Amino acid sequence: MKAYAEMTKEELASEYEQLKKVYKKYQGMELNLNMARGKPCKEQLDISMEMMDALNSEADLTCEDGTDCRNYGVLDGIQECKELMGAMMENDPDNIIIFGNSSLNVMFDTVSRAYSHGIMGNTPWCKLDKVKFLCPVPGYDRHFGITEYFGFEMIPVPMTPEGPDMDVVEKYVNNDPAVKGIWCVPKYSNPQGYSCSDETVRRFARLTPAANDFRIFWDNAYGVHHLYDERQDYLIEILQECKRAGHPDMVYKFASTSKITFPGSGISAIATSLNNMKDIKSTMTHQTIGHDKVNQLRHVRFFKNMEGIRQHMRKHAAIIRPKFEAIEEIFDTELSGLGIGSWTKPNGGYFISFDGLENTAKEIVAYAKKAGVTLTDAGATWPYHKDPHDNNIRIAPTYPTLDDIKIAAKLFTVCVKLVSAKKILEEKTSDVVVEKEDNKEKKAN
Ligand SMILES: Cc1ncc(COP(=O)(O)O)c(C=O)c1O
Repeated sequence: MKAYAEMTKEELASEYEQLKKVYKKYQGMELNLNMARGKPCKEQLDISMEMMDALNSEADLTCEDGTDCRNYGVLDGIQECKELMGAMMENDPDNIIIFGNSSLNVMFDTVSRAYSHGIMGNTPWCKLDKVKFLCPVPGYDRHFGITEYFGFEMIPVPMTPEGPDMDVVEKYVNNDPAVKGIWCVPKYSNPQGYSCSDETVRRFARLTPAANDFRIFWDNAYGVHHLYDERQDYLIEILQECKRAGHPDMVYKFASTSKITFPGSGISAIATSLNNMKDIKSTMTHQTIGHDKVNQLRHVRFFKNMEGIRQHMRKHAAIIRPKFEAIEEIFDTELSGLGIGSWTKPNGGYFISFDGLENTAKEIVAYAKKAGVTLTDAGATWPYHKDPHDNNIRIAPTYPTLDDIKIAAKLFTVCVKLVSAKKILEEKTSDVVVEKEDNKEKKAN
């Protein structure tokens, strides 16, 4: 089929009428599907059920160093869990603090601590006139939610297939002392599935921030979430690289087992420099006597080591890869060549990012909703929920069944075509009106 913009007005009008009929058919199907949030599906949760057998009432809940996990204590996590998370995060266990069930919670607390008490003796951010954060876009809505909550000015930084646009990052970080942080999902980013190239990581590590207390919030949520055995992204390890570049304290790296075992019932961790760890622990000690060691032990006994995590992630991939591929195939078949959208084909992570024509995303999401398919709100991938182009939509393929994904993806393409055809048709019609007006004017002159 021709690109919509190249069709005559009549051709496009006929395509539009046809699409309206197809859309009506979907409406009649009374669908109730959800592609909004990146949640594992039931089959994915089922593969971790054996973890529940890793401990029982007969189990010895003593750690290798003799710690009784049933009792209070161990502020920063049991050693064997630090080793497991260290292996997963590619960091020395000595640079790891284990937290509770959510890395988002740790990110919030990290910002909150900087806000109320300052980072390593620097002025608390609450005492400053202005705090700015760089936000790669499109990005993760809950990151932006944290920095919006604290009232920081959020500055969008364009994402590229190699990671955030480092020219923009350097310009802000190296010159403006009000810029205190940047959000970054370095691997299989949310929502595009992009990974930082070697050059991007090197440039991150070599930032020369105008603010002493500038920090990179390196949210490695999808560090081991490959979709393929043979196509995997690898990154230079950021803590090591920052150290090499003479900025050992510049990064907080976050991760969790949320999309490895059970979201909301996993374990989370920070990897960072010893200086930062000391700073963090000075607050932590007032917050808790220690996080859930039984859960830490349960994860360790279940996985045993990094190879255990790797094998487990293959099982996740086997469940969700067909869903990603089904969407890609349907988008290729239905949308390729029409000139009305582009989408990412990630090697891992939880999302596909779709870019439509300018000023169509809200309407596409609304059309899908009216036909029973819930998508992430248009705008959610931008700070303040404001996508200035209104063209980005995050697609979360993991939760629905494969059959449902196929229906939802098909309907999505119908909505994209319908809204785009309508828009181009309106433009063509207004062009005709404008042309007529021009001609009238010319004649009058
Ligand atoms: C980039 C990113 N970071 C963090 C999270 C949440 O992690 P957690 O469950 O550990 O709080 C998500 C969940 O979607 C995410 O996409």
